[in-house]
Amino acid sequence: MNMTRFGLVALSMAIVAYPLVSVAGEFQTPAAPEKFQKMTNPIPPTAEVVKEAPSVYESKCSKCHGDKGDGKGSATKGLDVKPRNYTNKNVMEKIPDGQLYWIIANGSDPEATEMGPYKKKLSEEQMWALVHYIRTFVQ
Ligand code: HEC
Repeated sequence: MNMTRFGLVALSMAIVAYPLVSVAGEFQTPAAPEKFQKMTNPIPPTAEVVKEAPSVYESKCSKCHGDKGDGKGSATKGLDVKPRNYTNKNVMEKIPDGQLYWIIANGSDPEATEMGPYKKKLSEEQMWALVHYIRTFVQ
């Protein structure tokens, strides 16, 4: 790889990996496009689909994110980057709904974390419902 190309790759990686929230240094969560960062959850917390969110979470998410959202699921032992603690109010207040949604849909940095994309497995409504559910873990 020549230096120009190396420089470009390094630069684009720096942009992609720019952490939205600099609460914990180890997180390399990509920032969602601005449009998403400004989005609040478009579905009401009372929607039918939100009632199903706990069972979707339990089958697809809790092994990493933990039953109570503390990020200490059984599958996290070998992970370099652990999921965030969703029970922490200070952490969660700083993350917009659209950012949470965007990571659920597209996954986090595939080089650095195990957080995969769910947009082919879940509907948009199901993913927004999960955003509502994740927010219920705050203590
Ligand atoms: C294999 C383990 C694993 C599974 C399964 C998993 N996640 Fe994650 N998730 C992670 C890790 C690790 C991170 C932290 C990634 C990072 O630092 O960027 C993460 C990050 C996230 C984020 C980004 C929020 C933040 O910390 O900024 C959201 C939202 C999220 N996951 C939701 C979900 C949902 C909803 C599901 C189920 C549909 C799910 N995850 C399934 C491991 C997992």
